[in-house]
Order: sequence, then structure tokens, then C-alpha cells
Amino acid sequence: MAIAQSFIDTLKTSCDIETVISGYLPLKRQGRNLVGLCPFHSEKTPSMVVYTDTQSFHCFGCGTGGDVITFVMKMENLGYIEALKFLAERNGIPFPEEGRNDPSLDLKPLIYEINRTAARYYHEMLKSEAGKKGLDYLTDRGLTSKTIVKYGLGFAPEGWSNLKNYLRKKGFTEEQMLKAAVLTRGKNQNSYDLFRNRIIFPIIDLRKNVIGFGGRVLDDSKPKYLNSPDTPVFKKSRNLFSLNFAKIAASQRLILAEGYMDVISIHQAGFENAVATLGTALTPEQCRLISQYTKEVVIAYDSDGAGRNATDRAMALLKDVGVETKILSIPDAKDPDEYIKKFGAKRFSLLIEGSDNVIDYRLSLFRKKYDLSTADGLAGYLNESVEYLSKVESPIEREVYAGYLAKETGILKETVLSNIHVHRRRNQKRNQKESWKKIQNDRAAFRDRLNPKRGANLTAALAEEGIIAFLFQHSDYLTYVLSKINKSSFITELNRELFCILTEKLQNNNSVTLIDFSGDLPPEKLSRFSEIIAVNNEIPKTKQVLDDYIRTLLGQQYKNISQRVGELSDQELYDAIEQIKKEKK
Ligand code: UTP
Ligand code: MN
Repeated sequence: MAIAQSFIDTLKTSCDIETVISGYLPLKRQGRNLVGLCPFHSEKTPSMVVYTDTQSFHCFGCGTGGDVITFVMKMENLGYIEALKFLAERNGIPFPEEGRNDPSLDLKPLIYEINRTAARYYHEMLKSEAGKKGLDYLTDRGLTSKTIVKYGLGFAPEGWSNLKNYLRKKGFTEEQMLKAAVLTRGKNQNSYDLFRNRIIFPIIDLRKNVIGFGGRVLDDSKPKYLNSPDTPVFKKSRNLFSLNFAKIAASQRLILAEGYMDVISIHQAGFENAVATLGTALTPEQCRLISQYTKEVVIAYDSDGAGRNATDRAMALLKDVGVETKILSIPDAKDPDEYIKKFGAKRFSLLIEGSDNVIDYRLSLFRKKYDLSTADGLAGYLNESVEYLSKVESPIEREVYAGYLAKETGILKETVLSNIHVHRRRNQKRNQKESWKKIQNDRAAFRDRLNPKRGANLTAALAEEGIIAFLFQHSDYLTYVLSKINKSSFITELNRELFCILTEKLQNNNSVTLIDFSGDLPPEKLSRFSEIIAVNNEIPKTKQVLDDYIRTLLGQQYKNISQRVGELSDQELYDAIEQIKKEKK
């Protein structure tokens, strides 16, 4: 981390924390400080404080804090050096380093080229004699040649080095093919074609680059599908199969299916707006991507138990990004592909039109669970439904569904509604309690990990922190403090470390700000440091307060030693007591 101090100094003076943070969220002045809604956890009342005099921030809700660099690191999801670069670039400060050589950047065009060449090869193979069984397979599954061409489907023939030899002739090296992950390495380090004897589904991004492949076996062997691993151009968690076709048609709604074949079948049935994940569960990143193209998603997952679980997860994730969700139930078929094959495109489109909204879907699952012709079954159904409806945010929807439930079960609507209200009140209390508990637990766990002895030595630790915060703001007391205590007076390790760094810096400079510590401390320690400064900010900084801290710390140290008497040798004990006597004067 050899970044010139002069650079950090320039950065420090150019990047005012107030300006940087208010670029992300509105800040309101409160006395000397500013407050805002913390972007690192969800909250409705602001608990993040920005201290302009120390150029730091701290959230009293989640404990996050630090300097302008820490903030950018967290906000932009960057490493330390990357954050420095980011701030430098934003403020027109030249970064002290040769260029910005990210080797993976140079690789990307090459990998795209390899992937495109490979995709063409696979597609040619599908049309060749060697690929006849692949073509037969796809035709058997009902795909037309138009669909096959549109998706650029292909076939990887049997054998270990067909593609490798082909690409070599085109001038690519083995090393490059490995980077593109069209080859893989065996135990003996030999490289060979990743896809062999499989149907190939090229994965294409929005700029029409081939970024990876999925490959399906022709029989029942395992694994059924093989997917390219992540490469510099392919992140499974951030891409969706067929989004390149779906994005135009998606403005109304997007159909989310489980697999390659479902998407292609749905597409062939006339719906271009279908996508699928790439061999993994739906991710928050994919949901954000989806939310850029559409306001409504119809989840068309498999009708089995795994599909239902995946549907639950997807509904929750899509809700987080504000996308309206509908759920397709597929009767008498295991997935959309099979349904279309059995019942045709027309009936599939009716299915889409009739897809349930989230509440209907939930209630229909409860309904299936109980026998509504018995009193017990009816009660069970009502209970689960009421419990569920109590969590529905919209009062209009609660009202409407209470009406449905009442009609369906022959209970008064008012009774249903009042039950919903009872549940709501109970939920609210529980949520409050839980969120408090969570905050406390998080903080306790966080604390222990960074400064493990803090919990057992709380009085001492608080005094140590008072001293650190005091010195941080009143460096003129440095000599005085050092005449009373030194680093061995500190009981908890992290505070001792902070004290050492602080005093050392103060001995070399007249004043310090938090940003000066960003090179010495990893982000989480820096964040703790800023928390210590923030928490002690309002405590009056008089000599009397300082003396209290020092006395407390020394007193605790005596206690600490007396507790450890059994572990100390006579000489150690004697030395310790002498030392304390001396310090107490
Ligand atoms: P399914 O097993 O439901 O396959 O996997 P499918 O889509 O119905 O495929 P067909 O109809 O039998 O050809 C759904 C998706 O899960 C991923 C693939 O992306 C697949 O499309 N998957 C499945 C894998 O990545 N690996 C596997 O071994 C199986
Ligand atoms: Mn299928």
C-alpha cells in the first residue's frame, strides 16, 4: 500500500466529507454536525452523523463509520486503493502510479473474440455430420430451425480437443483459451475442451457479445447442464439468459423461467420477453437488472417443490427492487417447456394472462393445504390466511382479500378484518423488539471480534476510549497524558493499538484528522476509531474529565492485575505494583 503521503494529503484537502456524502444522500445541519439517513442499513429516522471538523461520519444505528475513504469504499463497493483512485478521478487529482493497468481489461476483447469464434464453430458443427445427433435432439424437442438459428444453438462433438485444435488454427493460444474458459485443466494439468458431446446454448449480453455457454447432454447422464465458469467477461450472478432478446419486449412484463429450454420454448411460442438465470438461483443483482427493463415479472418456475421454494425466494428479491410479481401455476406439466409442448402456445398465453398475483398465489397454496369441508380445515385455512394478510402493506388489498375470505368461508367480513388487525398489532410489537435485539447483537458481536477483551473490561475500555477521543481533539495534552500513562497502561488491545498510532502521529504533527489513519488501519478498525471519536464527541473536554479517565484506567489496571495475581510470578507482581504506585502519583 505504498501510496505517497503527499497524494493522500492532497486528496484529504480536496475531498470534503460533507460534499462527498451529500452527493449520495441529503444531509441536514444539526448544530456543528450534519445528519442523514444511513445508506448502509434501512432506517426511517436519520442516525448517521457527519462531523465536518473531524472529517468523519458515524452511524449510531448500525455502527458503521470512518472517513471519506471508508465511506466511498462501502458505498461504491471498492477496495482501499480503488477508493483512492475513485476520489482522485472525481476531483481531478492525478493518481501517483503508472497508468491504470487492469490486466483483465485488456483480456476482455480477446475473450469475446474467442467466445464468438467458438460459438460459430459449435453452430457449424450442429449442421455437420458430426452434429447430426444434436440437431435431431433439438428437432425432437420441437425447436424449429428458425429458433435454432436465432439462438445460435450449437453442438460440441465428442472428443477432448476439437475446439482447442480449431481455435489454435485461428491463432489463439492455449493460455488464452483457458482464460476464456472454453478449455479446462485436468488433474495432470493437461487442458481439454470444457464442452464435449453436448448441445450448446451461447449466452449473449446486451451488446451482443458471447459471454459464456451452457451445455446439455443428449441423454440422462450427469451433469445434465454444464455452464461456463465466471470469467473476466462472464458473471453468472449479473447476467440473464436471453435478456438480449427479451429487453425490447420486456417493457410490459418479463417472464422468468428456470432454464434454457423453457426460455427458448416460450420464445418460440411467441413470447420474446422470457429470461432465465444461468444455472444458479436468482440474485439481487439480477433483480436490479430486471428492474431496469420492466415493472412486472411473471415467475414461471417448475411446478415441483424445488420450483415453489425458488418462487418464494424470487418473490422476496423482486419485491426488494420494487418489481410487481405474478406467479404462473402450471397445471399438468412440470415446466413451461413441457406445458407448451402438451397444450400449445395459445393455452400457454391464457395461463400467462391468468397468472396469480402474490396474494392470490399464497392463498391458493394455503387452500391446497387444508380440507375446507371440515371445520378444522376451515379454521386452519382462515388462520394462515389472516396471519398472511396481516403482513400485507396495502390497506386496500387487506380490505379486498378480507372480503374474498369472508365470502369463501361464510364468516363476517368484519370478523376477518378485526382478526387481521389483532395480528398486525402483534407483528408490530414483535418487529420492534426484534430489530432492537438485532442491533444490540450485531454491535456486541462486532465489538467482541475487533476488541475481544472489551466486554470483560468495559470500565477500563470506556476510560481508554475517553482518553483517545480527548487526545484526538486536544493534541496539546499529549505531553501531559504521556507523563501519566503509556501504552502498557492500556488493557484492551485495540485501544492500545489506536493509542500508539495516535500518539505517534501527534508527536510528528500538530493535528490529525481521521483520514490520516486510513493508511494505518483496515476499514473496520478505522470505523471503530471513528465510532470512539463520535460517541465521545459531546463529552466536555476539560482537564478534570481527562484526569478522571486516567484515574479510572489506572484503578482498573490495578484491579486487572489483582485478578491475574495467580498467573504472575513474584517478580512480575512486584514490578507491576511498583509501576502502578509510580503512575498514581
Ligand atoms: P432443469 O433440470 O429443470 O432442466 O434445470 P430444464 O430446464 O427443464 O432442462 P430440460 O428441459 O431437461 O432440457 C433448470 C436449469 O437449471 C440449470 C440449467 O440452467 C437449467 O436450464 N441446471 C440444471 C444446471 O446448471 N445444471 C444441471 O445439472 C441442471
Ligand atoms: Mn424442462
